[in-house]
Amino acid sequence: MRRLRVGCVGTGFIAGKHLHALAGLDDVEIVAVADAVPERARETADRFGARAHGDGLALLEGEDLDAVWLCVPPFAHGPLEAAAIDRGVPFFVEKPLATDMAVARTVADRVAASGLATGVGYHWRHLDVVRRAEELLAGRPAQLVTGYWLDKTPPVAWWARREHSGSQVIEQTTHIFDLARHLVGEVATVAGAERPAPDGQGDVPAAASALLGFASGAVGSISSARVLGWRHRVALHLVAEDLVVEITERGLTDHELRVVTADGEDVVRTDEDPILAEDREFLDVLLGRLPQARVPYDEALRTHALACAADRAARHGSAITLPDDDA
Ligand SMILES: NC(=O)c1ccc[n+]([C@@H]2O[C@H](COP(=O)([O-])OP(=O)(O)OC[C@H]3O[C@@H](n4cnc5c(N)ncnc54)[C@H](O)[C@@H]3O)[C@@H](O)[C@H]2O)c1
Repeated sequence: MRRLRVGCVGTGFIAGKHLHALAGLDDVEIVAVADAVPERARETADRFGARAHGDGLALLEGEDLDAVWLCVPPFAHGPLEAAAIDRGVPFFVEKPLATDMAVARTVADRVAASGLATGVGYHWRHLDVVRRAEELLAGRPAQLVTGYWLDKTPPVAWWARREHSGSQVIEQTTHIFDLARHLVGEVATVAGAERPAPDGQGDVPAAASALLGFASGAVGSISSARVLGWRHRVALHLVAEDLVVEITERGLTDHELRVVTADGEDVVRTDEDPILAEDREFLDVLLGRLPQARVPYDEALRTHALACAADRAARHGSAITLPDDDA
């Protein structure tokens, strides 16, 4: 059996999940990993029997790879994608695509010109409960959308500064914007408001809210808050005619679908692993078994554009008509 030679840049939290998934697959060989903190790269390399690099560009230059996973913080995007494209190496990249639109647009243009296979970590789309929600909404489109990312502030050093993470809206709530696009369709207008960062805790807002008008006529709001000591609610709630659909994420492998109709309530809780599912899908694209990933770079760009517009609208207290050519 041919084993695909893969590398991973970034060896933090989410890289660990991808590497764990990839290490369990017979047709994958984890060849090398890289991290800006060399010690971290070495530890991870030892765990997976791979070579360590102190720099992602060195990994891309020095290794012969079938694909690379880019699991770095939002501020680190751009040079890594450019190097992967230069060397013709397909890449799976974690969301968000960048802290802003400029870097993501430049990468998207180069990906389109190169024809390279890409995949992006909007993992909710790989859940069976999301497919079930799609089926339920097929004949009864959503009319009201309410989304939430109400959580603690992540402990990683880069998160609380907008220049490093983008913001909570761009870094976390982007999953909710993606799911809303997937289940309800494109957003036509977005207005917003935000509450400033807690004192001495960077400049990512304490809370933010986006008011959305969808092309379908549905309306809604998606809100973010980072001032709790726990994850309270990460969810998308949809109201259609005589139907309520609520999808909640409690952890990467802990999701719930709650469906309410006039006949009663049905709750399904699942431990399916969407990280494994998206990695398997991307490998199958590389092996020619699938034409493309569910969320290739250009599709992720549309979600990123929506999250960036929501962030900009909140920052300036303005309303934006999409697509947002000023971004
Ligand atoms: N799909 C999901 O649900 C999900 C969950 C968690 C994180 N993420 C995303 O994954 C990305 C990383 O998040 P994380 O939680 O793993 O962060 P993390 O801080 O735990 O890990 C990031 C790692 O990247 C390294 N790094 C930074 N710049 C680098 C560079 N230029 N080259 C090589 N290594 C570099 C850091 O040293 C760190 O070890 C973020 O964009 C985040 O939004 C996605």
